[in-house]
Amino acid sequence: MKGFGGKVVVLLLFVVVFLGLCVSSAPSHAQPQKWWQSIFSVSSGVNPIGSSVVFPLHGDVYPSGFYYVELNIGQPPKPYFLDPDTGSDLTWVQCDATPCYKCTKGPHPLYKPNNNLVICRDPLCAALHSSEEYNCDYPDQCDYEVTYADNGYSIGVLVKDAFVLNLTNGEQHHPHLAFGCGYNQQPGASYHLLDGVLGLGKGKSTIISQLNTQRLMRNVVGHCLSERGGFLFFGDGVYDTSRVVWTPMSRDYSEHYSPGFAEFIFGGKTTGHKNLPIVFDSGSSYSYLNSQAYQAFISLVTKELSGKPLEEAEEDQTLPFCWKGKKPFKNIRNVRRYFKPIALSFANGWKSKSHFEIPPEGYLIISSNGNVCLGILNGTEIGITYNIIGDISMQDKMVIYDNEKQMIGWAAASCDRIPKSKTDVD
Ligand SMILES: *[C@@H]1O[C@H](CO)[C@@H](O)[C@H](O)[C@H]1NC(C)=O
Ligand SMILES: *[C@@H]1O[C@H](CO)[C@@H](O)[C@H](O)[C@H]1NC(C)=O
Repeated sequence: MKGFGGKVVVLLLFVVVFLGLCVSSAPSHAQPQKWWQSIFSVSSGVNPIGSSVVFPLHGDVYPSGFYYVELNIGQPPKPYFLDPDTGSDLTWVQCDATPCYKCTKGPHPLYKPNNNLVICRDPLCAALHSSEEYNCDYPDQCDYEVTYADNGYSIGVLVKDAFVLNLTNGEQHHPHLAFGCGYNQQPGASYHLLDGVLGLGKGKSTIISQLNTQRLMRNVVGHCLSERGGFLFFGDGVYDTSRVVWTPMSRDYSEHYSPGFAEFIFGGKTTGHKNLPIVFDSGSSYSYLNSQAYQAFISLVTKELSGKPLEEAEEDQTLPFCWKGKKPFKNIRNVRRYFKPIALSFANGWKSKSHFEIPPEGYLIISSNGNVCLGILNGTEIGITYNIIGDISMQDKMVIYDNEKQMIGWAAASCDRIPKSKTDVD
């Protein structure tokens, strides 16, 4: 996961020459099919409404601290483990740009480009550099640099290749999509041993936006996280929209998926903390409240625990606040009765409100020492001005980002049951 805000800045640097030398002169690798042969067999489009693709997710909030998804790319397709990040747009894989200038060892061999560079004049290249003047110094290539909130970065060049997508309707598609061939990576603080990043943000350069342009599915992305995995999906075919609580995407934190401002509810009662700007960030394992709301939350939890058989476990360094019981806890279900549910209440247009409920499982973990720890942290400490709903609080829910309708939705779900079709979702 890309850490806190997952904020991405796309910059242009002086890396052009390097690629001019490396990638364009790369020997073409033996491929059973040339990229340009199959580009003409790209789907002419299906009805994008109701069309979806579902990817199983692996990982957890604790102890791994991240989730990952397998994507199959290339001809023949090869697997890559990618870090799903709703805080950034560009998908990239570590790439053998003859050779890779700076790659870390991932679970799979580096992606090999095969003369499949995206040219500078391609609209996708412009989309990637939206806010800047991009001069095509090297018209045959499109350079990128993404930097993440955790100080990691990837520098590379856009390439286009086939992705294997099994649609929920049983069809298999091989759309050609642009992604980053990253030949210079600096892992950030939240680094995990993976092959690259799957950018799920709002921008035009995402995989899902490209699938939408090819009329394969609607520009909708969602996830359903569980204690041991879950699934990620593209398209609008795996949920029943009438059972989803929808709230408009806010423009205030425009680089993030934000449902706007919320009131913080503890145990069904208001805490007096209103107008908290909220950001949903799959790139953050834990949730974060600003200092005042965090202080109020800690006081309320502490008050609730007085007289209960739980004692603060200061020796447990897993997270800032942990408690021990008479015996080590094995499961959150052993201890959840001592904690109250919390909720965020969004003023959703005129007179209507929508609630994002967080049960104790959505803010507690059981540490490896068998103590129970708070998975909501002090956002002011990490220098953010907004509040983050991280993976821990999005578990056991479908969270849906509809980039066409500009709505964010959520619905209770069993995330370990991977849907095959709409009728399969409970
Ligand atoms: C897609 O479906 C095919 C055939 O059912 C299967 O062999 C393959 O593993 C699936 N690929 C992915 C990426 O899910
Ligand atoms: C949160 O972090 C800020 C900045 O480090 C600090 O001043 C504040 O006391 C912290 N709040 C709590 C409740 O720990």
